[in-house]
Amino acid sequence: MRRKRRERKKKKKIRQEEIHPKYIAQRFRLFSKYDQGISLSDHESWYSVLPEKIASHVASRCSCDVIVDAFAGAGGSCIQFATTCKYVIAIENVNSRLMDAKHNAEIYNVAHKIDFILGDAFQIVRSFTGKVDAIFVAPPWGGPNYENGGFFDFGRFQYQLGDLVDFALQVTPNVAISLPRTSSPREIASAVPQGQTFQVEYNYLNAKCKTITVYLGNLAHHGENASADALSNTAC
Ligand SMILES: C[S@@+](CC[C@H](N)C(=O)[O-])C[C@H]1O[C@@H](n2cnc3c(N)ncnc32)[C@H](O)[C@@H]1O
Repeated sequence: MRRKRRERKKKKKIRQEEIHPKYIAQRFRLFSKYDQGISLSDHESWYSVLPEKIASHVASRCSCDVIVDAFAGAGGSCIQFATTCKYVIAIENVNSRLMDAKHNAEIYNVAHKIDFILGDAFQIVRSFTGKVDAIFVAPPWGGPNYENGGFFDFGRFQYQLGDLVDFALQVTPNVAISLPRTSSPREIASAVPQGQTFQVEYNYLNAKCKTITVYLGNLAHHGENASADALSNTAC
């Protein structure tokens, strides 16, 4: 029993050493309660989690009764949604990440407000059509390797932006989508159905742009709506 525990500890340590020191250095930016036992059990989770301050900001804009977090990962976003929404439906297709999300939500005392569902979001969300107030969509965008200069190339990627927007809009008009920080504003604009209100938000942390969030429906601030013409074609 003790040997098993020691082996598990050793395994965890080995994995931890494989994480790029940059992410370890930023651990408290990812989760302010990191030292209370936050679990990120694979490399991808480390670079996928939305930094807490950004997640908290996005959650404040998405405040509602019930929100779906369609790609929950290790819980960075759904934990924050649970602080601004009455209930969160968190979907994740990798069991270890979903378990991390649940464990991490317990550390933040919000697990009781989240329904953790293991499975394919593309299949599962359909059952929530018309039954939830908002949906957050943050699929994996290929990790830090996309940062090789220029705009993010959605064309060579598994998720086409227009399809993601349609996927989210089938559930509710109130959508927030997390995109790579190098996404082209024009490409974003062309993925949104014509006539649809939307807002593009550049999310900075310590003067560095980390990500882009696109809001649709009631989540887009009225009076500050974007259009393809109003956007300059620059990334942050
Ligand atoms: C960018 S991460 C989400 C990070 C999360 N927002 C956070 O702040 O911790 C994307 C997650 O989507 C999951 N995923 C990918 N395809 C999926 C699918 N079809 N259904 C559900 N989850 C999926 C991946 O396993 C990954 O954990």
